[in-house]
Amino acid sequence: MFLEVEASTVAWDAQGHFKFLTCKPCCALCIIPLTHFALPTPSYTFSDLKRKMVATAETANYSIQLDDLTPNNLGVLRRINNVVLPAQYSDAWYKDSLNVGQLVKLAYFNDIPVGAIRCGLETPSLTKGSSNGTDSSAAVAKIYIMTFAVLAPYRGYGVGKKLIEHILEQAETMFVKEVYCHVWVENEDAMRWYENVAGFAKGEFVAGYYKRMTPPGDAYVFRKKIE
Ligand SMILES: CC(C)(COP(=O)(O)OP(=O)(O)OC[C@H]1O[C@@H](n2cnc3c(N)ncnc32)[C@H](O)[C@@H]1OP(=O)(O)O)[C@@H](O)C(=O)NCCC(=O)NCCS
Repeated sequence: MFLEVEASTVAWDAQGHFKFLTCKPCCALCIIPLTHFALPTPSYTFSDLKRKMVATAETANYSIQLDDLTPNNLGVLRRINNVVLPAQYSDAWYKDSLNVGQLVKLAYFNDIPVGAIRCGLETPSLTKGSSNGTDSSAAVAKIYIMTFAVLAPYRGYGVGKKLIEHILEQAETMFVKEVYCHVWVENEDAMRWYENVAGFAKGEFVAGYYKRMTPPGDAYVFRKKIE
């Protein structure tokens, strides 16, 4: 039997085995039943437990699967975004997510929905600058990453990598020349991740890009050229 607790707390069975871990911000979405961790004392920190979980998950050969977005699982995308990201997206935006084909994906960790990416295709604009060749960056199709989120307890297991690799594959298939996104300047983890893990390059600084933040939040553009 599993009880629900917050991620920073632990529970033990009568033999002192760690029984379960739930994800604090999203306990309605996921319960990780981690049976039979033989932990000697209940004084483990959450990091210790997470490391232990990685080791166990590796030996248990965990699976990460991607799935298409459908009307039936649209709520999963909304839930993950709401839990992880500071911005709220409208119903129309979610409805439109059903029309972007492979540019949206949900990720499952051992069948538990834990991550999602949602992008948009930007087709070349035939503005004055691009049509006469002076603005070459506007003249190529690009994929823009609108939302990208993995629930905190499941980070570091390769879920984000699998999602971004999928989008980069799509970019190649679609002959898109660039994948890019904005990252809030305070989100140092994400900036490191884009550079070190996903191979994106840090681009220009955009003052006040996140207008709904108070005060408006600055961003850096991160981009990856597709050969
Ligand atoms: C950014 C994010 C999507 C990455 O997802 P993730 O599932 O944790 O990433 P992965 O597990 O696939 O990363 C795997 C690799 O990244 C490394 N890694 C994880 N976090 C890292 C970080 N902050 N900096 C550098 N490397 C990192 C892991 O060690 C691993 O490396 P390895 O393959 O060499 O072992 C996730 O951290 C997240 O949802 N963050 C909050 C929301 C957010 O900032 N979204 C992006 C804003 S646009």
